[in-house]
Amino acid sequence: MPLFEGLGSGGEKTAVVIDLGAAYTKCGFAGETGPRFIIPSEIRRAGQKQAIKVVQYNINTDELYVNLKEFIHTLYFRHLLVNPRDRRVVIIESVLCPSNFRETLTRVFFNQFEVPSVLFAPSHLMAIMTLGLSSALVMDCGYTETLVLPVYECTLILPAWEAMPLGGQAIHKELDSLLVDQCTVDTDSGAGQGLPAVLGAIQEDIVEDIKVRTCFVSDLQRGFKIQDAKFNLEGTADRPAPPPDVDYPLDGEKILHIKGAIRDSVMEMLFEQDNEEKSIASLILDTLVKCPIDTRKVLSENLVVIGGTAMLPGFQHRLLAEIRHLVEKPKYSDLLATKSFRLHAPPAKPNCTAWLGGAIFGSLQDILGSRSVSRDHYSQTGRIPDWCCLSTPPPESVYDARKTPPPLMKRAFSTEK
Ligand SMILES: Nc1ncnc2c1ncn2[C@@H]1O[C@H](COP(=O)(O)OP(=O)(O)OP(=O)(O)O)[C@@H](O)[C@H]1O
Ligand SMILES: [Mg+2]
Repeated sequence: MPLFEGLGSGGEKTAVVIDLGAAYTKCGFAGETGPRFIIPSEIRRAGQKQAIKVVQYNINTDELYVNLKEFIHTLYFRHLLVNPRDRRVVIIESVLCPSNFRETLTRVFFNQFEVPSVLFAPSHLMAIMTLGLSSALVMDCGYTETLVLPVYECTLILPAWEAMPLGGQAIHKELDSLLVDQCTVDTDSGAGQGLPAVLGAIQEDIVEDIKVRTCFVSDLQRGFKIQDAKFNLEGTADRPAPPPDVDYPLDGEKILHIKGAIRDSVMEMLFEQDNEEKSIASLILDTLVKCPIDTRKVLSENLVVIGGTAMLPGFQHRLLAEIRHLVEKPKYSDLLATKSFRLHAPPAKPNCTAWLGGAIFGSLQDILGSRSVSRDHYSQTGRIPDWCCLSTPPPESVYDARKTPPPLMKRAFSTEK
């Protein structure tokens, strides 16, 4: 339960804030400094070995509804331990989230859990709330993709968005294939055995653990040399000396030898330019080029990087160095007059910045009431408006926390599973 509940809140209980990411869900209560729980966005069913990912856009609506219902049930009754009917919900969403997903999620919250109101808040906008800024260029480098979106005077400049499918998932795939190709395992029966022969495939959570514990982003000059050596097929380019190898214990008996050359080179995929000369650094410059000319200076001087992948050691330093290097190229220097780029340091870890913004917004009770969609309004219209359509907010006629709940809310919890 939230600490100091009811103090100064006029009787209304603090809202629940949920950032439902493709890899991890951050959840907690409005007005707090960090999420109470960060849990994998997946459900496990009895008899099934594989966990089911909750955030999937290519499955049918009924299946999605069932998965989301199970997941939200776990969230409320195993982690948050509060009654969903008592509290408004703030959901941090990506602007690229398909309507089908958000509509199904809304149905789950209103029909299944009977929450009083729901607010979908764009993650990029929420992130800048933590800094008290009204304009910034926000990059979210999470699990499935990297998405850059400018916010000017608290308005998202939607036509300027740029995205690439580069994030945690792509790094895991690359790391997995490098480990399988190049690394060996020592077991009781012998040393130096090939990884596939001993293990078959490595589970994604182990790959992730290896990434977080052993890999890092090289600096710009070193990165260039690594890329030269990788793409120079004649083998004439010198690769900088790799960091030491690491012995990673897989379980009590097996030791995986991770090559130092993998540790410093796997992240280069984020910064290598593809055939269209795109990398995650060029996304920022491409976005700036698409923005109105008088907004560019403000945006370039207010860069905000969020998302778990940005927590890799050396990531932000390399990103800034890449941007400063790219902006000197004729492709950008002719178009962009601005050469000054500055990164903000939000008051939360990058993977929780958007959540924290939602928690700040959720604690502004009057504003939250006017921007939320109440259950009554939803049952009348059957649709959930976008953030930008909430300027004429729906009437909050039904929900008043101080009144006794209407009869519809008295349904037993047993219907929820
Ligand atoms: N300390 C860390 N160092 C490096 N990587 C990390 C760290 N913590 C989390 N990550 C990585 O960040 C990724 C998850 O980031 P995040 O929680 O922002 O994604 P998400 O919100 O679930 O996904 P998306 O935003 O794509 O829907 C994972 O790939 C994870 O491995
Ligand atoms: Mg995210």
